[in-house]
Amino acid sequence: MNVTVATNKIGAVKADVNVIFVFSDKKILQGQSKLISEAYAETANYFASQGEKAGKKFTQTIVYTSSKSCKRVLIAGLGEKDSLTLETIRRSAAKAVKSAIAERVESIAFHLPTKEGVTNGDIAFAITEGAMLNSYKFDKYITTRDKEDTIERIKTVTIYSDSAEISKEVTPEVEQAVVVCEGVLVARNLANAPDNEIYPESLASTTVELGKSSGFTVKVLDKKAIEKEKMGGLLGVNKGSVKPPVFIIMEYKGKGAKKGEQPIVLVGKGITFDTGGISLKPGEGMAAMKMDMHGAASVIGTMVAISKANLPIHVIGLVPSTENMPSGTAIVPGDILIHRGGKTSEIDNTDAEGRLILADALDYATDLKPRAIIDLATLTGACVIALGTVTTGMMGTSDEVKSKLSEAGKFTNEYVWELPLFEEYEEQIKSDVADLKNTGGRGAGTITAGLFLKHFTKDSPWVHLDIAGTGMTSKESDYVPKGGTGVGVRLLYRALRNW
Ligand code: BES
Ligand code: MN
Ligand code: ZN
Repeated sequence: MNVTVATNKIGAVKADVNVIFVFSDKKILQGQSKLISEAYAETANYFASQGEKAGKKFTQTIVYTSSKSCKRVLIAGLGEKDSLTLETIRRSAAKAVKSAIAERVESIAFHLPTKEGVTNGDIAFAITEGAMLNSYKFDKYITTRDKEDTIERIKTVTIYSDSAEISKEVTPEVEQAVVVCEGVLVARNLANAPDNEIYPESLASTTVELGKSSGFTVKVLDKKAIEKEKMGGLLGVNKGSVKPPVFIIMEYKGKGAKKGEQPIVLVGKGITFDTGGISLKPGEGMAAMKMDMHGAASVIGTMVAISKANLPIHVIGLVPSTENMPSGTAIVPGDILIHRGGKTSEIDNTDAEGRLILADALDYATDLKPRAIIDLATLTGACVIALGTVTTGMMGTSDEVKSKLSEAGKFTNEYVWELPLFEEYEEQIKSDVADLKNTGGRGAGTITAGLFLKHFTKDSPWVHLDIAGTGMTSKESDYVPKGGTGVGVRLLYRALRNW
């Protein structure tokens, strides 16, 4: 899909489908319908028969025209102008692309709507997101797949305005949006790939390739180097697996980054498959645990996005990665692991493995003297119960970083919501035989996992994002498909861009 910006009059657009957004406010709609029916006479009937309903939020109607340059005009309602949000634009653009796919055509144009108080660039960015992220399917293994019905069908997307000045203004935003969406798609593909495709070593080699094509460096610590780092959590979880672990280190230093700028460190949980280990999970639904490396996928996708976007910032990405498998060599409940940095943890349940590998990575991150550490992990089923698939759980020690992420969450619709790390919860992860225990009982499971991590962050400003609910979904929505959602990439891009 190729997304570009153009200057054009509504009636002169050359495309298979010309999407024109309209508002439901009576006055505005009257003006719009007049303009549109002047360009395409066939739309007059539609506006006459629908009245204000034509502008109703998420209505989408194709009117076939006799115009030589454009056979289909898609009237897309955005609702009342005052209550317009970027999310409505994303969803409407996604719906429009779906309609175009159903029409079996290849090019689509979007007339850029404008609204006071919202920048044209943000609106164009949102259209690009909706167009590029909709109806993605992980279908590369389906040998009989119908390419006619996928997003690949849509070859060109043009966002146009009749003002050359506005076109010029929004072009850089569309360019940014394109690479951010590429990052999201990278994350979705990684998350959805099964364990027999993406396992620790192949995750590492894929990341090396992505680094080369996007512009960030990648260093991979193999098992020997991980032993040297004394990453007892990562090595412990890996004990049951025949596949060796990796620890991936990515670095991006944008041209505009200040000399000697301390990095922002992103950490992603990279469990390529979580069986639970000896504390084996039930079989039903276990396949979803191929996505237990979504935190890693989000970090890698973000590195792709920010390096292609040339953000003027210094970011390091860390991914500890292993399978969590049961076997004769696997860790068992009661085992005690010594993490990087020397703290110990008692294994109460081998299925609470994410925190064990993140502990080592967080300790490594603190050595980098970071401005901030942000980790992303599909960490607890409790978070899915608390916040569902809509909102990411957020915990941490830096109010500043938390508020940056909240802002970015509202802007991108990748919401985050804070849960407390009150000291009183510490009781639950006390061990009689080690510094910490890796589970905290039934209550507040997301918080006790967060508290466990906190012990490894020293005095670095740190925020933990539990994406167990938001990273995977079994129900598709307008621009988020079933399976790995790619959550985190748009959120982190926005937070880093505004840092
Ligand atoms: N990867 C899971 C968490 C998870 C569950 C993610 C469902 C997405 C959907 C994690 O490793 C896990 O198994 N956590 C346990 C912890 C418990 C044993 C303390 C859980 O949440 O049940
Ligand atoms: Mn687990
Ligand atoms: Zn897990």
